[in-house]
Amino acid sequence: MLIRLIYASTAQDGVDLAEFKRILLQAQANNQQRDFTGMLAFNSKIFLQALEGSRDQVNALYGKLIRDPRHHTVTMLGYREIGERQWADWSMGFAAPKAENRTLFLKYSQQSIFNPYGMTAEAVEKMLIDLTQTVIALGEPAPAAAASPTPARPAFSTPPGK
Ligand SMILES: Cc1cc2nc3c(=O)[nH]c(=O)nc-3n(C[C@H](O)[C@H](O)[C@H](O)COP(=O)(O)O)c2cc1C
Repeated sequence: MLIRLIYASTAQDGVDLAEFKRILLQAQANNQQRDFTGMLAFNSKIFLQALEGSRDQVNALYGKLIRDPRHHTVTMLGYREIGERQWADWSMGFAAPKAENRTLFLKYSQQSIFNPYGMTAEAVEKMLIDLTQTVIALGEPAPAAAASPTPARPAFSTPPGK
């Protein structure tokens, strides 16, 4: 059975870009081995992450995540059974919500800033899906077609080669 869990958390003081890259690389390496997929949005302060995988594994990972000292105020926003993965081709995609995404924040919340804590599960899920499109628009090649045997691969918001 597949589960999609979505949570928000706040980066611990001192989590800089280098630390964030370590988190992302660790997530991508682990997830590829354990058949997790998902998307991580981070604006230098707040994380919003969707995790897809088997129920047992998602629960176990969430148990580790809430004890990770690199973030705090870990708040589960959504947890539901899904028939198919939204991010089947992403071991852990990365989107960087920015002030330019104002329209997107207004579309799904009462504020024009990235603040997932106050949003419904449905709204954060849709916002993450829209943010995925932003990542691709920023220069990532489009994810391989669903039928492709290509394994889930890392994704960055910067154009390849940078
Ligand atoms: C914001 C954030 C997101 C994370 N995402 C993942 C993830 O998707 N997969 C993962 O295995 N670990 C993730 N981690 C790291 C876990 O908290 C934990 O350190 C890691 O799973 C332990 O790996 P190990 O079981 O190989 O020791 C994340 C940590 C943070 C702070």
